[in-house]
Amino acid sequence: MVNLTIDNISVSVPSGSTILQAAQAVGLKIPTLCYHPDQTVKANCRVCLVEVEGARGLQAACSQTVVEGMVVRTSTPLVFKARKAVVELILARHPQDCLNCVRNGCCELQDLAQELGIREIPYAREIKGMPQDKSTPSLVLDPDKCILCRRCLTVCQEVQTVNALGLRARGYQTSVGPAFYQQLNESTCVMCGQCTQVCPTGALAEREEIDKLLDALADPSKIVVTQMAPAVRVALAEEVGLPTGELDMLTLVGGLRRLGFHRVFHTNFTADLTIMEEGHELLERLNNGGTLPMLTSCSPGWINFIETFYPDLLDNLSTCKSPQQMFGALVKTYWAQKAGVDPAQIYSVSIMPCTAKKYEAARPEMQDSGYQDVDLVLTTREIGKLFRMAGIDLKQVPPSEFDPWMGAYTGAGVIFGATGGVMEAALRTVYEVVTGNELANLDFTVCRGMTGIKEAEVDLAGTQVKVAIAHGLGNARQLMERIRAGEADYHFVEIMACPGGCIGGGGQPRQTDNAQRAIRIEAIYQEDVALALRKSHENPEVKQLYTEFLGQPLGDKSHQLLHTHYQAKSKKLK
Ligand code: SF4
Ligand code: SF4
Ligand code: SF4
Ligand code: FES
Repeated sequence: MVNLTIDNISVSVPSGSTILQAAQAVGLKIPTLCYHPDQTVKANCRVCLVEVEGARGLQAACSQTVVEGMVVRTSTPLVFKARKAVVELILARHPQDCLNCVRNGCCELQDLAQELGIREIPYAREIKGMPQDKSTPSLVLDPDKCILCRRCLTVCQEVQTVNALGLRARGYQTSVGPAFYQQLNESTCVMCGQCTQVCPTGALAEREEIDKLLDALADPSKIVVTQMAPAVRVALAEEVGLPTGELDMLTLVGGLRRLGFHRVFHTNFTADLTIMEEGHELLERLNNGGTLPMLTSCSPGWINFIETFYPDLLDNLSTCKSPQQMFGALVKTYWAQKAGVDPAQIYSVSIMPCTAKKYEAARPEMQDSGYQDVDLVLTTREIGKLFRMAGIDLKQVPPSEFDPWMGAYTGAGVIFGATGGVMEAALRTVYEVVTGNELANLDFTVCRGMTGIKEAEVDLAGTQVKVAIAHGLGNARQLMERIRAGEADYHFVEIMACPGGCIGGGGQPRQTDNAQRAIRIEAIYQEDVALALRKSHENPEVKQLYTEFLGQPLGDKSHQLLHTHYQAKSKKLK
C-alpha cells in the first residue's frame, strides 16, 4: 500500500493507483473529461489538474500514480484557475447551443462549465462549422461538439474492434469520424451505439425520434401499440430516480398507458417465442447435419458485424428474427386478426436498450406482415425523456396489466437482457424437449457473468452439446476467428454486440460502466427467479399462438413471419 495525503486527508491505496483513484477512495471529487473507468487512461483533456508538492507544474490526476508520502491538493486557487482556463479553451471552440442540444441537462461539459462557474469565454471563438452526419437511422455525429477526448475511439477500436471512427486531419482541423470523411453509413459502423454511451458531449448521440411518436399519438386513425425489451425496465429505473431494477413492471405499463399508448405488450413474449423457434432450429441442425455452430441472431449490432466482417459465416446464423421483429410481424397479423383491427391502422413502437434496433426495424426485408413490421424504435434514454416531458412521475403511477395475447412472459424471456441469457433460456427448453424430463435446476450459472467469452458443455440425453457465449464485438471477433479457422467445435454460440448484453446497450442510460452492468445483470436474474414460469415452452400465450395461428415451431407460417435471411455487406473492411 502507498500512503499519501490529499487535501490534508490521509489516504492509503494499492501501489500503482492514480491520484484520481486515491481521491475517489476517500470521497473527493476531481473533475474529469477524457477519463472513463473502463478505459485505458488517455490524459489529453487536462481537466483533472491537481497540485503535487515538489512537482514542477500541475499534474493530471487521472494519469499520475501515487508515491509514498505524496502531498496532493485538489482545490487551491491555482488549480481552480487552471481547470477553468482548460474548459474556457474547449468552450471557445464549442458551439454552445445547449438549449437545443440532445445532451442539454445531461452533458459532462455543460456540468463542468457550471461547476467551475464559467460566465464568459476570454478567448476568440473558433467553431469549425462541420456538417452533422445523420446518414444512419441510429446515430447522429456532430463533429463541432467533439472535444477530442477519444473515448469513442477506444470503445469503437479496442472494445468493439470495428474501427469505424478515427481521427481525421491535424491540429485545429482534427475531427472524429470515419476515414476519408466518409459518412457513417459508408463506413464499417455497426450502429451498436457504444460510442454514444461514452461520449461526454452531444458529439455522438442516438437519433432522437420522440416527435414521430407524438405525431402518431395525435393521429386518431392510429392504434399505437408498444413492446419493450427486458433490459429496459431495469435501467429505466436509473433515468427516473430509482435504484437499478426497482421500477415495478406493472407500474411501467401504467406509465406507458398514461403516455397515450393504446396497447402495451412485452418483447419478452417474443423472446420466449424465439426460444421455441431457435431451440427447434438447433435440434434440426444437430439431427440433420446442418451448419454448426449455430449462432444466435437477436442482436442487430452483431448481425451488422457478421454481415460486414464474416460474411463467409452467414450460414451459421440462426434464421430466427430478433424478438423485436417477431413481435412486429405478429402484431400486424396474429394480433390484428384476433382484435378485429385493420393492420394498416397499427403503429408499432418498440422501446429498446439499443441504437442498432432502429436500423434493424428499417431493413427492407422486415415487412413480412405486409407493412413495415416495426414503425418506430425508441431507446431507453428517449422513453426516459418522454416521461420527463410528460411530467409523469413513475414513482406515483398506479400499476396496470399487459394487454392480452402478446404480453405474457416467463423468466426465460426476461434473461434475454443479460449476456448468456439467450443460451440459458434455450438450454432450459431444449433440454426438456430432447429428454422429456423436467430440469431439476433451471440455473445454468456457467452462462452468467461478465467474463468476455464463456464456454460450457451440456449433457442432452447422452449427447454432449458444446456452447460458447461472447459479449462485446471484440470478444465476438475472437470467437469468429477460431470458428473460421476450424479451431472451435461448438454446437451453439450466443453473441451480443454490447458488453454485458442488452443491459449495456448503446441506448441505455449513460454512465454505464462495468460496475453498473453487473448491477443491472443482477436485477435481471432477480426478476427471473421471482416468476412462477421460467421456461419459454410453458408460456401460455405462446402455446395459444401455436395452437391458433402458427401451428408448430418451424412451420410454414413461422418461416414466413418469424425467420429471415442475411446479406454480406460490401463495406470497405479494415
Ligand atoms: S454538447 Fe453539452 S456543452 Fe455542448 S452544446 Fe450540447 S449540452 Fe451544451
Ligand atoms: S456505433 Fe459502434 S461501430 Fe459505430 S462508431 Fe459507434 S462504437 Fe463504432
Ligand atoms: S465524439 Fe465524443 S467521445 Fe468521441 S472524441 Fe469527440 S467528444 Fe470524445
Ligand atoms: S481526465 Fe485527466 S487528463 Fe482528462
